[in-house]
Amino acid sequence: MKEPLKAVRITDKVYWVGAVDWDIRDFHGYSTNRGTSYNAYLILAEKPTLIDTVKAPFLPEMMARISSVIDPKAIRLVVSNHSEMDHSGALPELLKLIEPEKVVASPAGVKALRAHFHDLAPVQAVKEGESLDLGGDRLSFRMTPMLHWPDSMFSYLESDGVLFSNDAFGMHLASLSRFDDEVPDWRYEAAKYYANILLPFSDIVLALLDKFDKTGFSPKMIAPDHGPIWRKDVKMIMSLWGAWARQKGTDKAVIVFDTMWGSTEKLALAAAEGLAAGGTKTVVMPMRLSHRSDVATELLDAGALLVGSPTINRQMFPTMADVLSYLKGLKPRSKIGAAFGSYGWAGESIQQVQDALVAMGVSTCEPVKCQYVPDAAALASAYDLGQKISAKLKEPR
Ligand code: FEO
Repeated sequence: MKEPLKAVRITDKVYWVGAVDWDIRDFHGYSTNRGTSYNAYLILAEKPTLIDTVKAPFLPEMMARISSVIDPKAIRLVVSNHSEMDHSGALPELLKLIEPEKVVASPAGVKALRAHFHDLAPVQAVKEGESLDLGGDRLSFRMTPMLHWPDSMFSYLESDGVLFSNDAFGMHLASLSRFDDEVPDWRYEAAKYYANILLPFSDIVLALLDKFDKTGFSPKMIAPDHGPIWRKDVKMIMSLWGAWARQKGTDKAVIVFDTMWGSTEKLALAAAEGLAAGGTKTVVMPMRLSHRSDVATELLDAGALLVGSPTINRQMFPTMADVLSYLKGLKPRSKIGAAFGSYGWAGESIQQVQDALVAMGVSTCEPVKCQYVPDAAALASAYDLGQKISAKLKEPR
């Protein structure tokens, strides 16, 4: 019987030997509606080298793909660019199976791997600028701490111009296609990945891109650990990352809300009408139907965030606490916004939301609140809030 799981040729000597996870829908709180891939790469140099592994249950898939081009026991070097378990989970079992000469990781990666897998075979640290001779081919290492973990590093195969970037420039997208030009609808997933994983580290992203620019570093391909390999749009994905990292909000607003009896929803829709009347692109996201990670994605290029919550037991609605806590951790910048909501007795949630927006660094307008069902005056206030924010979005910032 033929083995259906094959390696995919990337260059004459680099093969994709990862795994595709079609089923995953939640990745530590990030909705992966289109699944993901765990990319591992095999360099067929004189010393065959494996870059990263896969999530533990996918070890058999990776081994089958490796076996389609080489006996896995021939692998001499293993590089761990990132110790998070979607890339290192299969490492302990792999090492028992293939017994390579050497395993390398960044200094922080060595510590992280030991803290994850307490009986792991010895792992050697490599430092910034260090390189390994693969037997004629050189693999050099660049430390990229906090992109997105302290241990993260890139490996670069100089002969082929392939940058193995671990999570950087990746996206969660399961596909039978391996290259960017074969997956034309990648834009939303790339933005979602940046918004949910990299946004808090935007200054580090900008410093990295600046360093690439100043040193004239221009890889022919970027091979990340999730999603397609960049061979056509290498410059485009770097340029998009630069734009996302700079966080210049556009004339776009995101309204997130939940509602108990439809009153906060009425205020949300009135504010949306006011924004739209001002020409602002407006995305309305009811939180009982929307995922926090999609809110983060929509907010990535938005200039405004409006948050509506009813008050329940003197607190904001739980769905709103969830999304606000999540967004705060992502440290979005340069947003304007406001709180709004309907209430029955004291309406504590509106101030709580406003305080959460201020704590997030959002430049806030006066909140809009009303008791029970909004009347025409309350709806007009919400509409005016939308218009005011739309006008502010057009001011130079
Ligand atoms: Fe794909 Fe940070 O792991």
